[in-house]
Amino acid sequence: MIFKTLLSLFRGALKGHQLCFIERNVKLGRNVFIGFGCVLRTGTLIGDDCSFGHLTVIERDVKIGNRVSFHAQCHITQGTIVEDDVFVAPFYLGTNTKNIDHGRNLNPPIEAPIIKRAARIGAGVIIAPGVIIGENAFIGAGSLVTKNVPAREIWFGRPASKRGEVCDGEILW
Ligand SMILES: CC(C)(COP(=O)(O)OP(=O)(O)OC[C@H]1O[C@@H](n2cnc3c(N)ncnc32)[C@H](O)[C@@H]1OP(=O)(O)O)[C@@H](O)C(=O)NCCC(=O)NCCS
Repeated sequence: MIFKTLLSLFRGALKGHQLCFIERNVKLGRNVFIGFGCVLRTGTLIGDDCSFGHLTVIERDVKIGNRVSFHAQCHITQGTIVEDDVFVAPFYLGTNTKNIDHGRNLNPPIEAPIIKRAARIGAGVIIAPGVIIGENAFIGAGSLVTKNVPAREIWFGRPASKRGEVCDGEILW
């Protein structure tokens, strides 16, 4: 019911499964696919031609550009910024506070990841709080990224480090 109401508001912008949950104040562009069991929290803004695989969770106030694809079972943490043409493989996990409060009144600042234009992120990657993934960068599967990754560099490992450069033929300008 909720889904159908929202669907009529989006006037056909949304393609996807009926068993997903979209909170109020979520803005979707045209031709957005949302898979089975996805959750989109309030304040989220998504551009055109995007795709979110099943069981992906988008937390509050996330900003996503155009032609972005998140595969299945990704966790996009509150405040994340994702620019155009980004690809993220299954089981991505973003984090947004360095410390963990849980009743201690530490109030750690929210420092969400920023994934810049045309970056590619392999399966099962964890991004530490506040990390910036540069344009056209490539993160190998299973990596734990704790530092900013410059544009066009290939990083992998736990913790991830520079392992190479993306070749010219794979750059999206
Ligand atoms: C990072 C990646 C591009 C490297 O590929 P490559 O340049 O062909 O590297 P190689 O396979 O030649 O491996 C080179 C070395 O790095 C290691 N290695 C490769 N990828 C690794 C990774 N993700 N994490 C840790 N080590 C890795 C290899 O074991 C090898 O080690 P060795 O020299 O001790 O034998 C690739 O392994 C990768 O992770 N691709 C992403 C896969 C993915 O998630 N696809 C999503 C589809 S939905």
